[in-house]
Amino acid sequence: MPKIAFDQVSKSYGVVEVLPPFDLTLEDSEFTVLVGPSGCGKSTTLRMLAGLETVTSGEIFFDDKPISKLDPKERDLAMVFQDYALYPHMNIAKNMSFALRLARVPKAEITEKVERVASMLNIAHLLDRKPAELSGGQRQRVAMGRALVRDAGTFLFDEPLSNLDAKLRGKMRAELAEMRDTIDKNMVYVTHDQVEAMTLGDRIVVMSDGLIQQQGTPEQLFKEPVNTFVAGFIGAPTMNFLDGELVEEGGTQWVRGDCYALPLPADIATRLQSAPDRAVTVGLRPSSFTPDTTQGAPIELKVVVSEYLGAQSVLVTHCGDAEILVETQSASPVRSGTVQTFGVLTDEIMIFDKTSGLRL
Ligand SMILES: Nc1ncnc2c1ncn2[C@@H]1O[C@H](COP(=O)(O)OP(=O)(O)O)[C@@H](O)[C@H]1O
Ligand SMILES: [Mg+2]
Repeated sequence: MPKIAFDQVSKSYGVVEVLPPFDLTLEDSEFTVLVGPSGCGKSTTLRMLAGLETVTSGEIFFDDKPISKLDPKERDLAMVFQDYALYPHMNIAKNMSFALRLARVPKAEITEKVERVASMLNIAHLLDRKPAELSGGQRQRVAMGRALVRDAGTFLFDEPLSNLDAKLRGKMRAELAEMRDTIDKNMVYVTHDQVEAMTLGDRIVVMSDGLIQQQGTPEQLFKEPVNTFVAGFIGAPTMNFLDGELVEEGGTQWVRGDCYALPLPADIATRLQSAPDRAVTVGLRPSSFTPDTTQGAPIELKVVVSEYLGAQSVLVTHCGDAEILVETQSASPVRSGTVQTFGVLTDEIMIFDKTSGLRL
């Protein structure tokens, strides 16, 4: 499988630059997810890789070979789109083997490949049916199967699950995650859904407004986000952001706001020493609160709404003017309207520069 490298690649439509020059390297045999809000340039990036869009400047390399001038069919890749179309008059086996038949692959080989991929995707029993006789999820799998039989070195997926309802998405996501481990190919997967990205990606590239914000493993992005964008985009419910200022008192570094004062752990305090008394943004994940006040630094919150999600509940609380989401175990319910003291797990506090949004 080739290593894929974008070298100062940019894309403009007329005078509008949608992707300023960027570098991006995708390691061999990795499942890479490009994730970001709608319009940030994910599909454009994927389509340049596929050869469906030209690059405005820069070059894309497969290992050391420049490929940006090559035709899509010379790039050894297969793509699955959000809006896939199956041929309605052909049965599933014929739909899946279409490209192979076009390429005059021997019949026995076609049959072997279609059956192998179909059984991997759990659609082997449907090969004789027409697309109209399948459910949405089954049709989606056929669209994937049609790409996977092609034995390409690189597979590209552009929001392949976005036409499915929530339950089916979850199921397909789990199946894809399982399938991922059995396919030793380059996979590049585009989605706006951070849960999909976190479940599927060996590595995730977070984009916003045409810019790559950060790339890393799911755990790196969750634990070490470089800025408020990534911190707010990854993780659900989303991170809480509060205005704060850094103050030193009694030999301890604190971060303080209108309605709270939290002592910072030593490692954060050391990192911040060069920047005392500055205005910052404090990031607190909903999971960083505990009802057990012996465990963390106390913060008093007014519980406005309690959203029951099953084993967990999400509390919408107020801290002065700020709204804070708190995740709790439903087994110890909290009544709406009450004021309650929670513990903040201070090791999990993140501090960002208020102006640049960069994590300090
Ligand atoms: N053919 C085009 N002509 C002009 N602008 C385009 C074209 N295709 C995409 N864009 C613009 O490029 C930006 C990125 O689009 P896209 O890559 O489709 O985003 P995403 O896939 O992340 O939702 C958007 O602002 C979009 O409007
Ligand atoms: Mg898109």
